[in-house]
Amino acid sequence: MKKTSPEDVRRVACVGAGVIGGGWVAHFLARGYDVTAWDPAPDAEARLRRLVDAAWPALVQLGLAPDASPDRLTVAPTLEQAVAEAEFVQESAPEKLDLKRELLAKLDAATPAGVVIASSTSGYPMTDMQTEAATPGRLVVGHPFNPPYLIPLVEVVGGEHTDPEAVRWASRFYEIAGKSVITMDREVPGFIANRLQEALWREALHMVANGEATVADIDRSITEGPGLRWAVMGPMLTFALAGGEGGMAHMLDHFGPSLKSPWTRLEAPELDKELYDGVVSGCDDAADGRSIADLVAARDRDVIAVLRATGRLPGNGTGDA
Ligand SMILES: NC(=O)c1ccc[n+]([C@@H]2O[C@H](COP(=O)([O-])OP(=O)(O)OC[C@H]3O[C@@H](n4cnc5c(N)ncnc54)[C@H](O)[C@@H]3O)[C@@H](O)[C@H]2O)c1
Repeated sequence: MKKTSPEDVRRVACVGAGVIGGGWVAHFLARGYDVTAWDPAPDAEARLRRLVDAAWPALVQLGLAPDASPDRLTVAPTLEQAVAEAEFVQESAPEKLDLKRELLAKLDAATPAGVVIASSTSGYPMTDMQTEAATPGRLVVGHPFNPPYLIPLVEVVGGEHTDPEAVRWASRFYEIAGKSVITMDREVPGFIANRLQEALWREALHMVANGEATVADIDRSITEGPGLRWAVMGPMLTFALAGGEGGMAHMLDHFGPSLKSPWTRLEAPELDKELYDGVVSGCDDAADGRSIADLVAARDRDVIAVLRATGRLPGNGTGDA
């Protein structure tokens, strides 16, 4: 269904250029693509160029493609101009269903026939977003993690009206563009990783709301605990090791019954003012005077160190970065 093969793509359009769209722009530039961006906000271009400049030192460390340059970014004055010559489109507009529906229909009308259009949505099924598009077969979800230039994972899934070939094309394209891809064969709200993240976040908010842990305790419990293991081994294999020589079978026999206790509350907590303010001020305390830009730089430095230490930088490992 697509004229350009994933290997031959040179020009990518990014529509919506906030935190995630800007991160995609930085990623695609670093991988040597020509990138055209569009965002309706009056200050969008200045914000986007600041984001790319701030990310570039990390991208240099990750390893740039030959000829990669921030100069290969064009900010288009209209959505139509942004996608007119695109060979792949990444949509990263705000997470509002009506907006996504309307925008994907507009993108579908303006993008050359057959070109795959991916949405960064954090959880809407494509089936619900592709309702207004004239040719929904080329619409897929390509769900990234913040920041897309640093965290390798992207989850790819189509909707009821997506051509399976578009899903295959997108997965192959993302792999060539340096991402680590999970292709899902069915729609699940929240995909995979966000379901897991949300379960943890919900419980963390309950614990803060009930005074059982502070914001700082929650963060330290992960960074000084399971988070260290999760950077190198997922939760399943990690627990298999917790079963000793008996592995996961022993783990299930030993701790399976306590799963029924249950320790955790799966209903979302009420985000009342006290909880809201407590969590926001807890994060301000944790920042300890560092700006968001300082924290982004520190995060990028440390994630790169983990990727390097675990052999996941291009040229010295799996090439996932
Ligand atoms: N922030 C995250 O951690 C994260 C992670 C993965 C996926 N996502 C998804 O990425 C998408 C973007 O989220 P974000 O965090 O970058 O939000 P954001 O608010 O930082 O950026 C959204 C951008 O879209 C622009 N915009 C507004 N209306 C638009 C329109 N009609 N067409 C195009 N652009 C428009 C805004 O000006 C803004 O720059 C959402 O679907 C979100 O669910 C976010």
